[in-house]
Amino acid sequence: MSTLRIVPTNAALGARIEGLDRTQIARPEIAAMLHKALGDHLLLEIPGEPMTPQQTRDFAAAFGAPRIQLLRYKHSGEVPEVSVMVSTLMADGTTDKTALRAEDWHTDDSYFQTPAKATLLHSIDIPSRGGDTWFCNMRAAYEALPEATKRRIDGLRAIHAYDTSRARNRPSARTAQEIAETPDVEHPLVRTHPDNGRKALYLNFNRLDRIVGMERAESDALLDELAAHCRKPEFHYAHKWAVGDAVIWDNRATMHRVDVDYPMGEKRVMQRVLIEGDRPF
Ligand code: SIN
Repeated sequence: MSTLRIVPTNAALGARIEGLDRTQIARPEIAAMLHKALGDHLLLEIPGEPMTPQQTRDFAAAFGAPRIQLLRYKHSGEVPEVSVMVSTLMADGTTDKTALRAEDWHTDDSYFQTPAKATLLHSIDIPSRGGDTWFCNMRAAYEALPEATKRRIDGLRAIHAYDTSRARNRPSARTAQEIAETPDVEHPLVRTHPDNGRKALYLNFNRLDRIVGMERAESDALLDELAAHCRKPEFHYAHKWAVGDAVIWDNRATMHRVDVDYPMGEKRVMQRVLIEGDRPF
């Protein structure tokens, strides 16, 4: 494994992992190297061949404990921790709502008290063009804020809801059980990374409803101001998919979104694994 290389993108975040034999990922020294690289770069791009759901689960397990996602209809039958994310655009309007909603910046699972710390996405089918997944470095976004804004927001808490009128699109419907599992939750607006103590903005344009203790108008104005800051291209990097890529990101210090700009009817199918996280503080 001496050929394994961690090649930074030299953009706002991310590194490409070259020379990795995926069958060796569970070796402690390799898993530790990749785990450290994820903390440093927040996003790892790992090229390779398409994997079966079981292989994808085992690969993702090098980064922590895979966990089962909320929406049952997405679970791959054989391996429940692997979800099948179909974002193919359908002319008849049957496009999965989650795919459309992923068009705006978000971090996974923030509607849970303990959101997933990382997400692995593995491409099975990709369209002939478009469909890039974009990432935003929320650590860099926090660090670039004016000191007065940092002082204003440090210590504030916010309500994350499965849906909010602030989001551009509505989410997939939930079953009664899924609704019961997703009451509104409160998280800090600025999150400290448990591995390195560094702070990051913790926002989610699809779930973040309001700041605790503020009137709606004041909360909306502050969230809009922070959102405009995070939309600046200097914090962004796009992953351009090849079939078989495995991409893993740190949800504690990033947001992501997908460009829904690919041709109608061309298949776009990913496997996804969420990695167990910790309570934001
Ligand atoms: C997601 O936001 O979870 C999906 C991103 C993608 O399909 O590229």
